[in-house]
Amino acid sequence: MCGIFAYCSYLCEKDRKYVCETLCNGLARLEYRGYDSAGIGIDGDSPTDPVILFKEVGKVAALRKHIAEAIATPYPSEANGHANSNGHGKTVDMTKVYLSQTSMAHTRWATHGVPSPLNCHPHVSDSHTEFSLVHNGIITNYKELKLVLLKRGYAFRTDTDTEAVAVLCKYVWDTQPPLRSNFTELIKTVVKELEGSFAFVFKSTHFPDEIVAARRGSPLLIGVKTDRKLKVDFVDVELPNEERIEDVPANLLAVPNAQNGPTSAAPKIRRSQSRAFLSEDGMPQPIEYFVASDASAVIEHTKRVLYLEDDDIAHIAEGELHIHRLRRDDTVSSVRAIETLEIELAEIMKGQYDHFMQKEIYEQPESVVNTMRGRVNFDTREVFLGGLKAYLPTIRRGRRLIFVACGTSYHSCIAVRPVFEELTDNPVQVELASDFLDRRTPVFRDDVAIFVSQSGETADTILAMRYCLERGALCIGVVNAVGSTLSRETHSGVHINAGPEIGVASTKAYTSQYVALVMIAVQLSDDSILKTKRRQQIIDGLHDIPGQLRQVLGMDKALQAMAKDMLSGQKSLLIMGRGYQYATCLEGALKIKEVSYMHSEGILAGELKHGPLALVDEHLPVIFIMTRDSLYPKVQSALSQVTARKGKPIIICNDDDDSVPESAKVIRVPRTVDCLQGLINVLPLQLLSYHLAILNHVDVDFPRNLAKSVTTE
Ligand code: F6R
Repeated sequence: MCGIFAYCSYLCEKDRKYVCETLCNGLARLEYRGYDSAGIGIDGDSPTDPVILFKEVGKVAALRKHIAEAIATPYPSEANGHANSNGHGKTVDMTKVYLSQTSMAHTRWATHGVPSPLNCHPHVSDSHTEFSLVHNGIITNYKELKLVLLKRGYAFRTDTDTEAVAVLCKYVWDTQPPLRSNFTELIKTVVKELEGSFAFVFKSTHFPDEIVAARRGSPLLIGVKTDRKLKVDFVDVELPNEERIEDVPANLLAVPNAQNGPTSAAPKIRRSQSRAFLSEDGMPQPIEYFVASDASAVIEHTKRVLYLEDDDIAHIAEGELHIHRLRRDDTVSSVRAIETLEIELAEIMKGQYDHFMQKEIYEQPESVVNTMRGRVNFDTREVFLGGLKAYLPTIRRGRRLIFVACGTSYHSCIAVRPVFEELTDNPVQVELASDFLDRRTPVFRDDVAIFVSQSGETADTILAMRYCLERGALCIGVVNAVGSTLSRETHSGVHINAGPEIGVASTKAYTSQYVALVMIAVQLSDDSILKTKRRQQIIDGLHDIPGQLRQVLGMDKALQAMAKDMLSGQKSLLIMGRGYQYATCLEGALKIKEVSYMHSEGILAGELKHGPLALVDEHLPVIFIMTRDSLYPKVQSALSQVTARKGKPIIICNDDDDSVPESAKVIRVPRTVDCLQGLINVLPLQLLSYHLAILNHVDVDFPRNLAKSVTTE
């Protein structure tokens, strides 16, 4: 998890206040990725004060406050952990103007080491900040690296895995003089020693006004802002075979006494052939670069972005961007196109709403329309998903469909399993990505694997996808974030087009995933005449969904009162249903747990008598999802078992249902086709969880210990 942001300006006059604000604004947009602590590193005032670090525990607001204090009062000392040794006892002059500068920022979701100013990024290599860096991911061999470096006399101050990388930079600098003339090669050498997943931005006092960014497994993109037309609109990363600095040992840390440095002759350096951004006349021009974990952090500056691939090393210096490869790999495209982002700034702002979660719940009538736009023809009652067209025969011939996802995305797969089974007559397996990998599940060339992910960056799902790719299965992505790793590495797929989802609790992505998956099932069956009627029924149902969602949103006040009067203060809440509604139970319970901190469990009603019934008494609240479908009588019987034990259920039923017990509390929702009913039924649960969170004083968009995009295993 964690969010990375870096800002480089070249030949642009920017004062320090502007730089700090730009960094904090970028971080605020990435805060959903982690909010245990935040920090920035900016250029200092002199060679003896090369980098100024501001770090604070908590959210970006706390960091902003800390920076504001530094303007007025002497800059905090190392002792309280807020900063490195530079800047002791000085106030920070925010009016200082930079002509060119490089700066970096980080918002943290702690994996190694508690949230504290000391463990907060940027991390530094030593007390002179020779190398500083921000990192998203986990370095799995950091203990080994640390041990070797400690033995060779290097000091560590934090509990993080990241610090080992900063110190390794210094070690490489000290021991490999041939690399001292080339920041990129130095970082390549460092990165080659690392295991795990990462996105990094590096800065060094030895290479002023330069930064190097690298990624493997964690997302990273670069936004480019310039008034001038760019001469090239792509970066060619084709490298000559021998493009390496020679004289550097292949396995650095295995070299005994390497601290003395090699004694070989001057290095031979061959320039990379990567092309850079230059203005048309080839003259240096003002230009700004924004390196970020995701597009939401750059959109207010530029819409022109370039996504880095795994093992890309990007070097920004003197206004130019060069992209290098860590190693030659013919399976990776050698072109990094600049793409134009299609999101608008307004989409990532809260607008009239108090929280992103609330906004995103309310957006669902529109977001599901966006999922269907241009893909469902309600007149001819047909679905057309362009991305899948070429693969339809292969999917239909496949031995089985395997859905792989995590959390809410997994629930959307559970929700559509019955309709896939019904429409495709194919075996369908739904897998939690982590468990799928743990079991080393057998996968075959004629399998079709569908990976569902809002962010497209969830580490477990990506690893599962690569596992399936290696085994020759057809891999399809159902993803919200355009340009994400999943959307780029799958053979084909469908973007759910729900728009940016910022709230940590997923809401609109769930309903859009659900709709997109139903559309896939419908399209897959369009070669079956037998299924025509059912397909048309589903498409008609889809047509009415936005209006029906709007109708449920109209019940918000009543749901707020129900949360207050019946659920708030309770220890636990069970949500029961079966068939199509099992997924709704799981998703409702997850929402309640994650934003209200109340324990909640989604229970398949058919399992009630096999154990959970023991929990039922006159105190425990139970929500029954009892909308009309073929399993209605069975859910009714489960309800009787609960009421017979003095349980006091809340029933979600259809608005035309007159057979629910009169004494029961009911939430009446519009009726739709059985396989779509879960889209409607989940909404009251999302709203209840939101109101419970407010009643419990939870920071709704940033529930404790969570992060939006889980980029670590
Ligand atoms: C819950 C939630 C998580 C995510 C899960 C997968 O509200 O947001 O359970 O659904 O971490 O994330 P994606 O869909 O980005 O792969």
